Amino acid sequence: MPRDWEDWYRRGETPWEKGQAAPPLVELMERNGADLWQGGPVLVPGCGFGHDVRAIAATGASVIGLDSAPSAIQGAQAFPSETGEVYELGDFLDPEWQQGRRFRALWEHTCFCAIDPPFRDAYAAAAAAVLVPGGLLAGVFYLNPPDPGDGTDGPPFPSSIDEITQRFSTHFEFLEGWVPRSAYPGREGREWIGCFRRMG
Ligand SMILES: C[S@@+](CC[C@H](N)C(=O)[O-])C[C@H]1O[C@@H](n2cnc3c(N)ncnc32)[C@H](O)[C@@H]1O
Repeated sequence: MPRDWEDWYRRGETPWEKGQAAPPLVELMERNGADLWQGGPVLVPGCGFGHDVRAIAATGASVIGLDSAPSAIQGAQAFPSETGEVYELGDFLDPEWQQGRRFRALWEHTCFCAIDPPFRDAYAAAAAAVLVPGGLLAGVFYLNPPDPGDGTDGPPFPSSIDEITQRFSTHFEFLEGWVPRSAYPGREGREWIGCFRRMG
């Protein structure tokens, strides 16, 4: 793991932690309906304290929240269960973790931008490895976070719509994308929702 996320959790330096599900996730589910998740299982990599996991679970889909930081998993498990969602400690980029996993959908939120850019193709490959053919990859991508200043010393690391669609194009068909109307304060106009379908 190239970054010590556990250390940030232990120091209580978690500026990404907003205490609620991502507003663009709520917007996506209102727009596309709960069928979006095909009942699951849904994977939420880099789930942090699991607010998005519980929002998806509330629709009735089965969900697994994955995080490589033990404190994130402990924090997520401390919340009351919604409908039997599960949290797991593991590295999304680890082929051993991916082995035998099959999800109908994946929700991305601030995991892609947290991973060092040289590992972005590994992220796309991981998503392709764990999604069934026809499976949905939906995410809100934090394109131009202000935090890194010059855009090089994140996380979060910036990206572009062109880069994202290109990186996923090997295994995914692009379905739709838009700038969400809803955002955490400070992220307005900086994010993009992208939906892709696993080919094959
Ligand atoms: C910026 S935080 C976002 C957490 C959560 N998505 C949120 O918005 O509250 C990034 C999270 O991704 C986790 N993470 C980073 N790399 C990971 C990996 N390779 N596999 C699983 N989790 C990872 C970190 O531990 C951290 O909890």
